[in-house]
Amino acid sequence: MTNPIAGWSHANQEHAKQIMARYPDVRSAVMPLLYIASLEHGHVTDDGMRQIAELTGLTPAQVRSVASFYTMYKRDGVGRYLVSVCTSISCFLRGADDVLTAVEEATGTVDGETSDDGMFTVEHVECIGACGGAPALQVNYEFVEGVTPDKAVALCRWLADGRPEVVRSDEMQALFGGRPSFERGPADPEGAIAAVPAFGPYGSAATGPERGTR
Ligand code: FES
Repeated sequence: MTNPIAGWSHANQEHAKQIMARYPDVRSAVMPLLYIASLEHGHVTDDGMRQIAELTGLTPAQVRSVASFYTMYKRDGVGRYLVSVCTSISCFLRGADDVLTAVEEATGTVDGETSDDGMFTVEHVECIGACGGAPALQVNYEFVEGVTPDKAVALCRWLADGRPEVVRSDEMQALFGGRPSFERGPADPEGAIAAVPAFGPYGSAATGPERGTR
């Protein structure tokens, strides 16, 4: 049988193998594999879904149904930094709309779009579970809580100027955040390298696979 992911980077192929080995039934690996495919292709592509179907024995329709159910699986190209501004009720009451407007202006990118240079994708999202630190946003799913419009602008400029390879919640919170929802523990050494979660086997700086090109 040919290897459906033979064209992927070596690192991403190895991570896919490690992930599949964790599950007695390889079909259960579909969700983390979708993140690895996102890193390989820049987003969830038709080819990526077909490759995962071949790897897992699921049908392409089953893989597509998982990918289309969750908003974190992006079907279109995503910028280097995905800025997700929560606009649900707690954040809304504490000025989230102004934060979103500030992010749009600072990035030159309207809600739901990607900047021409591929640097930013901006989106508004439903509650991200940081209501106590409202208003909250995420950069590549790394949290920043208690933001203000001015701090959000400063954050976007910091990203655009510094273009950090890895974004870490602790660092961004210290530089641009306000009151968090709870006392933070020890600094998290990992961080996100792309718009996929930065934990476990996904896109973390410490253990994650390689980011592909858009
Ligand atoms: S309402 Fe924004 S984090 Fe819950």
